[in-house]
Amino acid sequence: MTARHLDAIPPYVFYELDARRAAMRAKGKSLIDVGIGSPDGPMPDVVVEALQQIAQDRSVAGYPYFQAHPAYAAAVAGYLSDRFGVVIDPAREMLALAGSKEGIAELLLAHCNPGDVVLVPEVYYPVYARATQLAGAEPVFVPFRADGGMDLDAVSAEHLARARVLLVNYPSNPTTHAVSLDELARYVAFAESRGLLLLSDLAYSELSYDGFVVPSVLQVPGASRVAVETHTCSKSFSMAGVRIAFVAGKQDAIARLDAYRSNIGYGVSTLAQHAGAAAFTHHASLVPVTVARYRARRDAVAAALAQGGWQVSPPNATMYYWLDVPSGFGDWEWVDALMQGPGVVVTPGIAFGAAGQGKFRVSLVQPEATMVRAVKGILDVARAGPPSNTAN
Ligand SMILES: Cc1ncc(COP(=O)(O)O)c(C=O)c1O
Repeated sequence: MTARHLDAIPPYVFYELDARRAAMRAKGKSLIDVGIGSPDGPMPDVVVEALQQIAQDRSVAGYPYFQAHPAYAAAVAGYLSDRFGVVIDPAREMLALAGSKEGIAELLLAHCNPGDVVLVPEVYYPVYARATQLAGAEPVFVPFRADGGMDLDAVSAEHLARARVLLVNYPSNPTTHAVSLDELARYVAFAESRGLLLLSDLAYSELSYDGFVVPSVLQVPGASRVAVETHTCSKSFSMAGVRIAFVAGKQDAIARLDAYRSNIGYGVSTLAQHAGAAAFTHHASLVPVTVARYRARRDAVAAALAQGGWQVSPPNATMYYWLDVPSGFGDWEWVDALMQGPGVVVTPGIAFGAAGQGKFRVSLVQPEATMVRAVKGILDVARAGPPSNTAN
């Protein structure tokens, strides 16, 4: 059954991007990669020290428990309480994850049957739709309102009748939109009234600027009756390679995920959980350093774009710019022109679903001066226009 579902899923756009990037590199082209959302580090010292220390403990040779390691569970509970004022019972209301991407996929696989519907933002992190399809369920795309929130009124009665899960991602990758706690409360109320599991992907909880503090859905009173939320160390602490994240919230959804995972694997690597424990324990001192680095890049990009006449408002969260493809260029044509010309790698908006057409994403994953060079390359290619025009 699943193999057939796998066959039905179109190739991952990021794979195609990888192939084009590799082909350029093979030709000797030097590239500035602002396509991928992989943090460029550095991993915090306290995390490196925690890894060094745990590597010397021979008890880590055994399989990890299915449940979170007590040190990780305590650090996560402390973080949720400090940062959001959210109190959880880690034994029943959280699980460690080997990354939130896998965790989200497993949550969907543990909750969906063929014929079910998962409500997904129209521009989305690809795993939402792909894991839904792997489960044999149907992703139904929810349009955004003008303010970037989910237009749930646009979902048809037929789709609502089959819906099992509502997925939200604020601050959003790639649109960078963020929402208020009141807006999250509306999603909780919607999910509760329709009997849906609300799955909030909070991968960018700490990357916000200009005084904006990202809310958690778990701050909404009563949210844990309907909602689970995934958090990750990948972005906040530049630890994407460690693969450590967690999910917290609704008890029976956590139990279902636990049951699902226990059939296919073990608990999350003990080493990764100790690294994650160090990060969450020291979040208050680590996050400002990371945020300052991304803010400087964000501001440098805004200034460089403005110099070229592109007036864009800098995002107040995430590590991305979500920009319009200049008129006259097709989506891949624009990506290829940037790669072949100044050697700038960006992500086409269509990597995030059909509604991403006409947009592209720039990740703030290079030092400031390199980001500015990337922007100059983008402006030059935009000024020159599509290859077919320049030939005239
Ligand atoms: C919105 C969103 N969710 C989840 C992830 C995956 O994070 P992790 O490294 O925890 O799997 C990403 C990574 O880019 C993301 O942008």
